[in-house]
Amino acid sequence: GHYDNGGYEHYLLKEISEQPDTVARTLRGRIDDRFHIAHLGGLNMDARETRSFRRVKIIGCGSAYYSGQIGAQLIEELARIPADAEPASEFRYRNPVVEPDTLYVAISQSGETYDTLAAVQELKRKGGRVLGIVNTVGSAIARECDGGLYLHAGPEVSVASTKAFTSTAVSFALLALHLARVRDLSPADGRRICEGLRKLPEQIEQILKLDEHIKTLAEKYAQAPSMMFVGRVRGYPVAREGAQKLKEISYVHAEAYPASELKHGPLALISHELPTVAIVPDDELLDKNLTTLGEIRARSGRILMIGHRTADAADDCVVVPKNETELDPILLTIPLQLFAYHAAVALGRDVDRPRNLAKSVTVE
Ligand code: G6P
Repeated sequence: GHYDNGGYEHYLLKEISEQPDTVARTLRGRIDDRFHIAHLGGLNMDARETRSFRRVKIIGCGSAYYSGQIGAQLIEELARIPADAEPASEFRYRNPVVEPDTLYVAISQSGETYDTLAAVQELKRKGGRVLGIVNTVGSAIARECDGGLYLHAGPEVSVASTKAFTSTAVSFALLALHLARVRDLSPADGRRICEGLRKLPEQIEQILKLDEHIKTLAEKYAQAPSMMFVGRVRGYPVAREGAQKLKEISYVHAEAYPASELKHGPLALISHELPTVAIVPDDELLDKNLTTLGEIRARSGRILMIGHRTADAADDCVVVPKNETELDPILLTIPLQLFAYHAAVALGRDVDRPRNLAKSVTVE
């Protein structure tokens, strides 16, 4: 690449390490501490229109799609608008019903992914209102959308997305706050979210300090031929992104499942040879998650837990700083980026340029 790798051995590590800064840039000028709202000038929507949406549909590909799943949960939780995410390619091929009171959000780091662009064009043709959450200013998807937010995360060079993923999730927290505060989110909850957002850069800094510990764990677990990633609700998109990162750059097979679905099939796979990465935030589902860990352990499954505490059922734990429950998925993803990175290095992979993948898929 023609960008400076800043003295890091790989762009991927540079981009992971930049996240305190890139998240601060995504937030800059967008939090109003007086009214506890988000300032999002680029949406091009007045208050009446902002209040009018009855649904939110989010589309994107790969990691953009998984960050959209975090986004959908943030919008549902904070703004209480039904929201879901779908791969852009699936969306465009199934002839979706385009509704006037649905807000569509397209996500793309590059702004050039063909499936996402084609989905946006199809939506526009049918009268859909589309916002873009895009990193690359002036890109095709950004130009096609009615408005949106730029990530301001700077160029992402490594094929596997890291800082763009995080900044997209942060952008969704801002969008959710914006939608929520013109509906029924209280000023007190608005303030709680604003304060949580402001804490993120410093907390990411703390997570990056766990690098040596995570490296040791990655070297231990990367020897497994396959890994299971599980999470419940807020933890599930985190598990999916964690599995995706591992597959992309280390070529270790990984599957992500909702923790509650294990017993409906994949529990049959669990053994000492198939370790599990469990995303276990300190939220209202903690007890349920700990029960699941017990079930895995009872089948001799090894467990690496990512959460806010240690647990006896887990063999290893990575403890990250706690934020507001709604924002925790953003932080829980970061150790999984480091985990995949160190697994890939340990296995001698081409970290920045994994086989068979392109940074931006601009063809069908
Ligand atoms: C490619 C990359 C992924 C990325 C996806 C979407 O498949 O390998 O890392 O998440 O495209 O890219 P976009 O630029 O639209 O976010």
